Amino acid sequence: MKNHIASLVLQSLNQLSAEWALPSDISRKIRIDRTKDKAHGDFATNVALMLAKPLGLNPRELATKIVAALPQDSAITKTEIAGPGFINFFVNSDHIATQLAAMLQDERLGVKQVETPQNIVVDYSAPNVAKEMAVHHIRSTVIGDAAARVLEFLGHNVIRANHVGDWGTQFGMLIAYLEKCENESGSGLELSDFEAFYREAKRCYDEDEQFAQKARSYVVRLQGGDQYCHDMWQKLVTMTMEQNQRIYDRLNVTLSPKDVMGESLYNDMLPQVIADLKAKGLAQEDQGALVVYLDEFKNKDGDKLGIIVQKSDGGYLYTTTDIACVKYRVDHFKANRMMYFVDSRQHQHLEAAWQIARLVGYLPADVSVEHEAFGMMLGKDGKPFKTRTGGTVKLKDLLDEAEKRVDAMLTARGSAYEASERAQIVHDIAIGAVKYADLSKNRLTDYVFDWDQMLAFEGNTAPYLQYAYSRINSIFRKTELKPGTIVIASEHEEALATKLLAFAEAVNAVAQKAMPHLLCTYLYELAGTFMRFYEHCPVLKEGVAEDTARSRLALCALTARVLRQGLGLLGINVMAKM
Ligand code: ARG
Repeated sequence: MKNHIASLVLQSLNQLSAEWALPSDISRKIRIDRTKDKAHGDFATNVALMLAKPLGLNPRELATKIVAALPQDSAITKTEIAGPGFINFFVNSDHIATQLAAMLQDERLGVKQVETPQNIVVDYSAPNVAKEMAVHHIRSTVIGDAAARVLEFLGHNVIRANHVGDWGTQFGMLIAYLEKCENESGSGLELSDFEAFYREAKRCYDEDEQFAQKARSYVVRLQGGDQYCHDMWQKLVTMTMEQNQRIYDRLNVTLSPKDVMGESLYNDMLPQVIADLKAKGLAQEDQGALVVYLDEFKNKDGDKLGIIVQKSDGGYLYTTTDIACVKYRVDHFKANRMMYFVDSRQHQHLEAAWQIARLVGYLPADVSVEHEAFGMMLGKDGKPFKTRTGGTVKLKDLLDEAEKRVDAMLTARGSAYEASERAQIVHDIAIGAVKYADLSKNRLTDYVFDWDQMLAFEGNTAPYLQYAYSRINSIFRKTELKPGTIVIASEHEEALATKLLAFAEAVNAVAQKAMPHLLCTYLYELAGTFMRFYEHCPVLKEGVAEDTARSRLALCALTARVLRQGLGLLGINVMAKM
């Protein structure tokens, strides 16, 4: 609807453009908003206010002219000029009913597939080998996965890229320590506690000179392609990723082993990257290291920022890898868009790598690269989320606790389930709550991890939405009647209908801005609108005419489908009973 109204406004402005010179990008500047208060119509635009000033006109007068030049349209019953020059649009409820009838028949619920699918690389999760998944990896994993699902649903070709930290000088130490553990325990070592493994490896490295020497020699051998070191390294990667895959599966995250494209994947490209940077005169030597100076970036002292791309010992850096990675994604995947779901603290690193990739000619101007940054996860004390002793919170422990809490909560509510379904329901509520808590906040801000808030059955939470879904299901268990033709007869039906029709907009907004919270807000509002509708518009009560009941059942059914689909796009399951 928004697009439709925007096109009407544009037609009107084009008519008027003989009188004034309109900005050339006017079509992108027309904003249509849904009104908060239906007394002011369904949609409003500030286009007259925006254009009046530069044209030296009175906004209300301009609004009047725009309205006068609007083409006749069956979807709009009335327009009104409000306040300093807003234009309000009232939408025809027959038109709403027709659109809803179409939505009811549409298994995609009005969400159209894009006409020109793009190749979109979604870089997310990216944990590090032989380390516990840290809090910023959870955020990246959950938010990135929702974005990937949404883009795929819209018909894009999504390439999930798990840029695992699987390379670096620490591997000498890790291999040496793995070797030590294997010698001590015999074979068949199971690594379950990476934090302890890493800590102990580091301790040996710091305290035992012989160990440190061996570790350093292993780095050199690993980089030189030595078979033994490569096999030991591979063991570490495999053990880590098997453990992480179990977490992905448990979290209902769509990443799989084939999506792992760790830093090591780009190793072979690095000498060529350096050669290209040198050939283009971009890299210069500085105290033995190779450095690219970037005009647009300043260091703390206000000087040009120098980015090291090769150390004096010949080693490459995290940035060098990310430069190669851009080239790979452009050449190999023909990426049109690359989205990096990475902690906001890595902003300068990413921007610098991309800028260098542009300068050296790896990144064509028509490929969009975006840092989908996110803030930190904080504890209730407002400090970075940590265990009581200050360690990293293991994701597995966090999920175990979520399930324990949900289990207790269901017992307290007296919910009765078959033993066979209970475990699945506990899992779906717990995982849903943890993911939704993260997804529902604007990713750019830090957010506070709060068990009570995320598990509440009230407010913008997954349990609230899952409950709304199961409640609608229970209506259908109580009747033989089938949904019928939708007739919009009251303001509550109209409010629900309009909200349902806005689903496609919410989904598209997530794809465009990489912000899943926009879909969460939409679903939360939809559930609220449904609850008000259900309170005022009885469905199965005695005295409700059958046609009315069946129309309302159709609205119920559609709401349930949108909730299910919407939560599904966020990677959250619903349950028939709760
Ligand atoms: N492994 C990195 C970390 O733990 C994140 C990688 C993000 N992606 C990238 N292309 N740099 O911080």
